Amino acid sequence: MAEGGYNATLCNVDFEDSIESHFQDTVSGGAFVNNERLVRVLVENAPGRILKLEEDGALFYRTSDGKIDQRAFGRQSHKRTCYSGDRTGGEIMATLIDLLRASNVRFIKGAAVDFLLDGNKVTGVAAFDPEGAKFFLIRSKAVILTTGGGCRIYKITTNSFQGTGDGFAIGYRAGAELIDMEFIQFHPTGMVFPDSAKGILVTEAVRAEGGILLNSLDERFMEKYAPDRMELAGRDVVSRAIYREIRAGRSTPHNGVYLSLKHLDPDFIEQRLPQTVEQFRDLSGVDITKELMEVSPTAHHIMGGLRISEKTETNLKGLFAAGEVTGGIHGANRLGGNALADLQVFGYIAGHSAAHSSFESSLGKVHDKQITQIHRAIISPLQPKQDGKRPSQIRHELEELMWANVGILRTKEKLTHALKDIQRLKSTPLEIGNHNTTFAYEQLEALQVRNMLIVSEIIIKAALFREESRGAHFREDFPETNPSWRKNIIISKEKIHTVPVVVF
Ligand code: FUM
Repeated sequence: MAEGGYNATLCNVDFEDSIESHFQDTVSGGAFVNNERLVRVLVENAPGRILKLEEDGALFYRTSDGKIDQRAFGRQSHKRTCYSGDRTGGEIMATLIDLLRASNVRFIKGAAVDFLLDGNKVTGVAAFDPEGAKFFLIRSKAVILTTGGGCRIYKITTNSFQGTGDGFAIGYRAGAELIDMEFIQFHPTGMVFPDSAKGILVTEAVRAEGGILLNSLDERFMEKYAPDRMELAGRDVVSRAIYREIRAGRSTPHNGVYLSLKHLDPDFIEQRLPQTVEQFRDLSGVDITKELMEVSPTAHHIMGGLRISEKTETNLKGLFAAGEVTGGIHGANRLGGNALADLQVFGYIAGHSAAHSSFESSLGKVHDKQITQIHRAIISPLQPKQDGKRPSQIRHELEELMWANVGILRTKEKLTHALKDIQRLKSTPLEIGNHNTTFAYEQLEALQVRNMLIVSEIIIKAALFREESRGAHFREDFPETNPSWRKNIIISKEKIHTVPVVVF
């Protein structure tokens, strides 16, 4: 889902870049609520990890002298985004999957349902394999949570069907602390038609390579909102600008704005953005080398997540976390290209930390009482029954509700309305069809929907709590950034409170 790149200070193209500049861009882009110690770890280790990926076989585009090429991405002071055309995430994933397949790592198929706990220690995972509809337990000395994001709670999103936020909910139920869950990134450019393609990412690389945004009056409207950085302003700024143009009626036939590459050489476009060319041609019949794209914002990334230390430890013993399921690194708004770097840097650290921790500990206890609880709360409700709403109905209602009320521009009124509706959905009985033991899709969806409701509730509570606008969180009833709100919101099962920002 991160197509356009990986940020690392390599100075292959822009000799003026520095680790310090990457740090400053990340912290100012994050509206100064990032955990600066985590940012320091990110920027210092990002170069090493991409060079290791290259050594492991990942192919990145190169400069004429054979180094990894780097392009300009949004809200950054230098060209530091390494890329593989417009499928950088895919290239990294393919490389890592190859490495895994060649290793002795054992794969177990199934969806995590809940952690097994011995007091404050995670001792394993209860899991569900929809193929065969089987529940099973995995005992472990250490667990690394890397379940990614949860923007599937929104009707319009770049996320894959797995982006249902399960890790946030599983962590929360077990007592993990979550930080800054109100900060949701709406990527400025998603496809708007046909309906089946709505929300699919139109990579920032399009603007990085020179794409310009126009409204229906043919005005390059970013001149009004961010005259210095224009289309490469922060994602929060560009998304709000597009949203405002649409709201003011200067929108395209499919209710978006135009993104144009028509002024660039078609061969250059084909070479730099092959996937985007294909995506528009195949899904909406548009030739982006000659015609305008129509785009609008789409829910992309959750900046908040499990609170972690520099070693990826959470507040639960034996539980480590990395990637989008964690929070604090990107503050109130993530820079494009920092997610892939985050995954590589903190994924690597999490592996080391978990290995160390398991050398030092023994398998914890599994308590019968907890198994009974999981059975009662999670497994029993999945038995076939009528007189309620199907998981897919609840999911659709939730997606609409979140999009309409917890989106780019928020108010207390809309947030409160959404919270009430979510509580109604939470107490709606689930109707589950007959078990299909070949692939128990509806049971899996019921588990996901349960998590999606919890995650949405947490996001709304945090969004109501933060009575200011900062980064991607914009409150129309509190439109200013308030310096006294330069703090983080921590939510756990017990309470919601603020803590000072960790500065370096
Ligand atoms: O636009 C993109 O290619 C997305 C990149 C990212 O989210 O980092």
